[in-house]
Amino acid sequence: MRLSGRVAVVTGAASGIGHACAQLFANAGARVLAVDLPGRNLGSVHKMQGTISLLEIDVSAEGAAAKIIEAATKSHGQLDIVMNNAGMASNALAEEMTREVWDRTLAVNLTAPFLICQQAIPFLKKSRAGRIINVASVMADGTDYGLSAYCASKAGVAGLTRTLALELGKFNVTANYLLPGAIRTGMTRPLWEARPDIADIWAKKSALRRLGEPQDLARAALFLASDDGAFVTGHGLNVDGGLMLRV
Ligand SMILES: NC(=O)c1ccc[n+]([C@@H]2O[C@H](COP(=O)([O-])OP(=O)(O)OC[C@H]3O[C@@H](n4cnc5c(N)ncnc54)[C@H](O)[C@@H]3O)[C@@H](O)[C@H]2O)c1
Repeated sequence: MRLSGRVAVVTGAASGIGHACAQLFANAGARVLAVDLPGRNLGSVHKMQGTISLLEIDVSAEGAAAKIIEAATKSHGQLDIVMNNAGMASNALAEEMTREVWDRTLAVNLTAPFLICQQAIPFLKKSRAGRIINVASVMADGTDYGLSAYCASKAGVAGLTRTLALELGKFNVTANYLLPGAIRTGMTRPLWEARPDIADIWAKKSALRRLGEPQDLARAALFLASDDGAFVTGHGLNVDGGLMLRV
């Protein structure tokens, strides 16, 4: 029960990494607000958990950040852990990238986490152990063809989180970001099922020679969220099985 008495928000909680984190946080004793888009079946994926409440909303919608923090704090006036995990992939060569795709990628992956953190800060400052955990990507450091918007958004998450760590440290609030490698989730599964050879390439690239599972990220997030991570802040934690070791 490493999160006993804590209140947490996890966005993108209907699937993949966010789903595993919401479940693990709840199993560790936290009361969790699970947030995801309408129509993603949040209710059924979390139906076994009495301590998880649900909010269907697009994190990038006007006013969403305030609604999310209000929903999380309304019953106990308390918020201890904010995990900005909701994210989208986009793929287009820079020369062909539409303004719409660029704007949407930045809105969901970077601006929404910023606004959610901003709304959460007054509550985190009052917490005994305030925690921000933002989900970036190994693509915050590396890149590939077609990833200009995605990489820019994830590098932005890294810079945002380091700055939050600096600004909030004196209030005993930590802010860290995760850099997942190749993880088997809703984002990657369709491609990897259609092209198992691509999944195999990613698995073999990592030192541990396997794909990551959502639970790998959830365990790292639990470390950062709990008292075990109390003196870790401003840190980007690669959870990638050693994917980025080779130059
Ligand atoms: N899977 C990977 O290999 C990988 C690698 C690096 C980083 N990531 C990052 O991990 C995070 C989680 O992704 P995942 O891999 O678990 O994918 P996923 O598709 O399984 O889960 C993402 C969830 O976010 C939700 N979401 C997307 N846009 C949203 C919005 N506007 N408002 C509310 N919810 C929204 C989706 O509905 C989905 O349930 C993302 O930020 C992603 O960029 C994933």
